[in-house]
Amino acid sequence: ETIRLADYRPTPYAITEVRLDFRLDLDGTRVVAETLFRRRDGIAAGTPLVLDGDELDLAEIRLDGAPLPPDAWTATPQRLEVRTPPADDFHLTVTTWLDPERNTKLMGLYRTSGNWCTQCEAEGFRRITYFLDRPDVLAVYTTRIEAPRAAAPYLLSNGNRIDAGDVPGTDRHFAVWHDPFPKPAYLFAMVAGTFERIADRFVTASGREVALEIYVEPGRGARTAHAMDSLKRSMRWDETEYGREYDLDVFMIVAVDDFNMGAMENKGLNVFNEKYVLADSETATDADYAHVEGVIAHEYFHNWTGNRITCRDWFQLCLKEGLTVFRDQDFSGDQRSRPVKRIADVRLLKSHQFPEDAGPLAHPVRPSTYREINNFYTATVYEKGAEVVRMLKTLIGADGFRAGMDLYFARHDGSAATIEDFLACFADATGRDLERFKLWYTQSGTPDVMVSTHWDASAGRLRLTFDQTALPTPGQPVKAPMVVPIRFGLVGPSGDDLAWERVSGAEVAGDVIVLDGAHHEVVFEGVTARPVPSLLRGFSAPVRLTLGSDTADLLHLMSHDRDPFNRWQAGQALAMRALISGTQAARTGQTVEIDPALASAFAAVAADESLDTAFRALAITLPNDADVAREIGTDVDPDAIATAIEQLRARVATAGRATFRRIHAEMASSGPYRADAEAAGRRALRNAVLDHLVRAGDGDLAAQRYRQADNMTDRLAALTAAVTVGLPSAEDLLADFYQRFAGDPLVIDKWLMVQATAPRAETLDRVRALTAHPAFAATNPNRVRALITTFATGNQTQFNRADGAGFAFVADQVLMLDRINPQVAARLLSAFRSWRALEPRRRAYAEAELKRIVAAPDLSRDVADIAGRSLE
Ligand code: ARG
Ligand code: ZN
Repeated sequence: ETIRLADYRPTPYAITEVRLDFRLDLDGTRVVAETLFRRRDGIAAGTPLVLDGDELDLAEIRLDGAPLPPDAWTATPQRLEVRTPPADDFHLTVTTWLDPERNTKLMGLYRTSGNWCTQCEAEGFRRITYFLDRPDVLAVYTTRIEAPRAAAPYLLSNGNRIDAGDVPGTDRHFAVWHDPFPKPAYLFAMVAGTFERIADRFVTASGREVALEIYVEPGRGARTAHAMDSLKRSMRWDETEYGREYDLDVFMIVAVDDFNMGAMENKGLNVFNEKYVLADSETATDADYAHVEGVIAHEYFHNWTGNRITCRDWFQLCLKEGLTVFRDQDFSGDQRSRPVKRIADVRLLKSHQFPEDAGPLAHPVRPSTYREINNFYTATVYEKGAEVVRMLKTLIGADGFRAGMDLYFARHDGSAATIEDFLACFADATGRDLERFKLWYTQSGTPDVMVSTHWDASAGRLRLTFDQTALPTPGQPVKAPMVVPIRFGLVGPSGDDLAWERVSGAEVAGDVIVLDGAHHEVVFEGVTARPVPSLLRGFSAPVRLTLGSDTADLLHLMSHDRDPFNRWQAGQALAMRALISGTQAARTGQTVEIDPALASAFAAVAADESLDTAFRALAITLPNDADVAREIGTDVDPDAIATAIEQLRARVATAGRATFRRIHAEMASSGPYRADAEAAGRRALRNAVLDHLVRAGDGDLAAQRYRQADNMTDRLAALTAAVTVGLPSAEDLLADFYQRFAGDPLVIDKWLMVQATAPRAETLDRVRALTAHPAFAATNPNRVRALITTFATGNQTQFNRADGAGFAFVADQVLMLDRINPQVAARLLSAFRSWRALEPRRRAYAEAELKRIVAAPDLSRDVADIAGRSLE
């Protein structure tokens, strides 16, 4: 049941060609798959052929055109074995019957909004036909699709369309697609149905013309302009930054409402959750615009990092995902403010990946075992995987990184590679030994780096002491020290970086200290003034850095560091200290004094016009309760944290009220809505101060801003402030929002989310009631995520209610959803991943719910795996 990396063996047979014939009908689908097999070198003739299946209904099987005698094969819905295949190349022709209408798992072929669509990654192709469904089996696909013309005017698959026409004497038509690039089955896609098509074109650097097509539900075409523009910018960026051109005549994106994940990079035919395609000012926030751009780029970049070079096995998932996330983050950084993008990415890493790494679901960026691969599409594989690539670039420099990537594309194009292959390209291109660096792929957990500082003024000498440790994680009790690049500067009294004459104690290359042991003493000599060390600039490594710095030093960095990331970080660190002592005090019924210098420092950053508006907005956004819970780490009491946050917010808002009011007026837009970065930055800052003002008593402002809003960013910010603070206007605004957007599921998801996050005791009843609302559907992953997952992961006080009712509700939902869609259920269940960090009473309730799930009959592998590991 457990799959191990160490057991990897190539398949005895290769597949060189596949011909698929889909016959779609309203009451079912027939698939004929004709597959050409070739015995691999060194494999004995007659070795049995074993193919993967999943819930398949086999109609017929033929070998080289002739029916196979019954004793020559065995089949179950999960497996097909041909006992003694011929010695030479042979064709197997398998006919299966599918019922896409009833496929609620949304893997394989399913229906969404009346259309047909497939999702094959990771192991969905085996739900279409029996196959060697693994990423190291690469074949050339030709796909014929036939369907009733009225139900499916568009028939799409991978590659280029080579034929199409009517089926004479019927109301049916067909299309034939051929993809010349060998690919694994997980990159196969087929889509058929009624869409609105938006067409454009792109001319590649070498002058090839590519047709660009986006398919959406009829009526939604006007919302695709941003996606199309993002696609063209992504295509150009991959050419200029990596020398990678697109390789087919057409690139298609299909947007669907029912989708398990964000999007899928199927060769030439990306399928997207429509959340990451559709955007206009009335219905999408500025954050949605940024997500659309990032996901479009991500899937497009997979064409080279994922498709042209794929993964040898699923343990290597980070080879394509971590690298491609790194590439999409870098792209987005180039489109808007790089520091603002970096802060957003680090916030995501810390809020999603750090807790994963600190809990029972921790696993290495490249895991070495799994039971269900769908449970490894995680923040660790994606986000930490991207951090590892970023560190590699930091260590070997931009030129070395580009040389290594060029070598990777040259060496591995058209094949299925491993992390070892990837690292060898950088080692070979730069001559650098990356053996120790590889630990980042194999060792789980977040390293802790403790720093202490000693300044000797008379000698002009600064001594930094670094100690690296790591806590045990599942299966890894003892850790070796990692290679940690610490980007740094020595900030002088005026805010400029100071120089030094000599440095010793660790490798220091430019502005990067490279730690590679458990303990380092780094000594800077010839420093002319008292420095405040600014460490881990740009968050140069995914570690927890603990600084001994005092408040004055952090305030200095908060107002002067020339690295914007660390300016932001210093403010967060100061707020975090206040919140941790505030939480301590709240548990014993005391209040703590908040340093007035700290309370007013936030208003000062908000008012600093030398800074980007979007940055100022982030700088005045205080850590949230999940951030504080993560920092405290054990014996967590979410109600005490919430109290401490309320107190700090009130102090910051009061100290800054006049400044915040002035900014709120200044940032009002004159003239029509614009989507660009400048206008979005102004909205972000205005809405960040709105949040403070509403908490400081200017409640009417929320309702007023809601009514005046001419775009979704402002409207949702005002609604969220009203609902979160619990203003009297909140119910009216919610009702208005529903009426305005009823019938627009993506927007109604925002309505569900706002209600699910309200930090109040009534919220659980409300969420429960909303599961019966006509706008909700347990079969649609977006609706489930908007309501239930948001409640479980975005509402610290109510999910973690002291009476355990939040856990019980979510556990019930997990069990109910497991019958419909195990992937969605397992995702939701991972909301329990930090249960051991809670105070004893809540911890006991959470444990009881996990045990109830483990004991439930007929669990999916997905849910059984998460529940089992959570309790280990
Ligand atoms: N490769 C897709 C993406 O990152 C994710 C698809 C995962 N799907 C799944 N069912 N596990 O871009
Ligand atoms: Zn991806």
